[in-house]
Amino acid sequence: MISADTDIKPFDVTAIRKEFPVLQRKVKGKNLVYFDNAATAQKPQVVIDALVSYYQQFNANIHRGIHSLAEEATAAFEATRDTVKDFINAKYREEIIFTHGVTESINLVAATWGRQNIKEGDEIIISGMEHHSNIVPWQMLCQEKKAKLKIIPVDNNGELIMDEYEKLITLKTKIISIVHASNSLGTINPVKEIIEIAHQHNIIVLVDGAQSAVHLDIDVQNMDCDFFVLSSHKIYGPTGVGVLYGKKELLEEMPPYMGGGEMIKEVTFDGTTYNDLPYKFEAGTPNIADTVAFKAALDFVNEVGKDNIRKYEVALTKYAMNKLSQIEGVRLVGAAKHKTSVVSFIVDGVHPQDMGILLDNYGIAVRTGHHCCQPLMNRFEIPGTVRASFAMYNTKEEVDELVKGVEKAVKMLR
Ligand code: ALA
Repeated sequence: MISADTDIKPFDVTAIRKEFPVLQRKVKGKNLVYFDNAATAQKPQVVIDALVSYYQQFNANIHRGIHSLAEEATAAFEATRDTVKDFINAKYREEIIFTHGVTESINLVAATWGRQNIKEGDEIIISGMEHHSNIVPWQMLCQEKKAKLKIIPVDNNGELIMDEYEKLITLKTKIISIVHASNSLGTINPVKEIIEIAHQHNIIVLVDGAQSAVHLDIDVQNMDCDFFVLSSHKIYGPTGVGVLYGKKELLEEMPPYMGGGEMIKEVTFDGTTYNDLPYKFEAGTPNIADTVAFKAALDFVNEVGKDNIRKYEVALTKYAMNKLSQIEGVRLVGAAKHKTSVVSFIVDGVHPQDMGILLDNYGIAVRTGHHCCQPLMNRFEIPGTVRASFAMYNTKEEVDELVKGVEKAVKMLR
């Protein structure tokens, strides 16, 4: 049954939609229905304006210049650091390191903390629902150090089997790197519990927040994670900007990731002393413009209110799951109790890619394939899924369009 709370409107969705210029366009002659938000969210005009304004008014390199433009650019760049700090409730601004995205943030930890702390025979735990970006860096590290990668299994609902998690921990376990919310199924993992158990064994925990930071309230102090990573472009911000949060004492102990300008205090041919946090990890000219504009995205989300967005997206997701599951031959993949706004499904006798191509003909953008989670797809013995992922600007009427599209496609393709 369709739950009554589908009509929850904690904010004015029509007004919100007007803030996103791309939503006004047509695709293949139809109104665009953008349901690929887990891949990247669309950008509101304020973010586009912030990007243009940086280039039009104060483009300059940061930290090193003493002229006015350099000071303005530095202030804007550092203001984003403060906003990120508040957004995830970090204790210190030095704990916020800018990277190019979640992939780089995880690689940074594997290559620095990992190389420094992982020895032959040590063990690293991840889960069976990780994105490749939270698998491959640890595999590379394990290969280099002759360490072992252990996997928390996933049940038929797409939830972690927590009893098995505890059984995987040994005296050799050094780090657990776990996704907060699955990109392919939407499952929200009990990261607080995972961290609590890990810390009882002195194991540190990295939480991959690529898919959670846009939907859930993030409080890294309350969560007590040791590292948390996120990407700007999934939170309505520009591409090419990521964040690594790390507890200060851990970041201070870690060696730098890349060498170059900005990350040094003094360089002689005899040796180099490294800069303080966060600059020790920010070698070279960063992605200044996009980082500056990222602040506008976070301000935008804060203004609408994360609780409001969450309520609305949950209602929309339930509505979509109900409607889609009533179509003959459609099977939803992932029935976790706690989910983000992701609906993954397969249709008997129809390849996900064919479904994606047909839906695109109706102007509906969904993701198809393995979603960079091949081991998870293997677990479910499927080549991939069709994934619809919702954002604050999506509507019930758009979900109805998707349902109509799937029904038509099923008739045509089966
Ligand atoms: N990781 C992104 C996704 O889930 C690209 O689509």
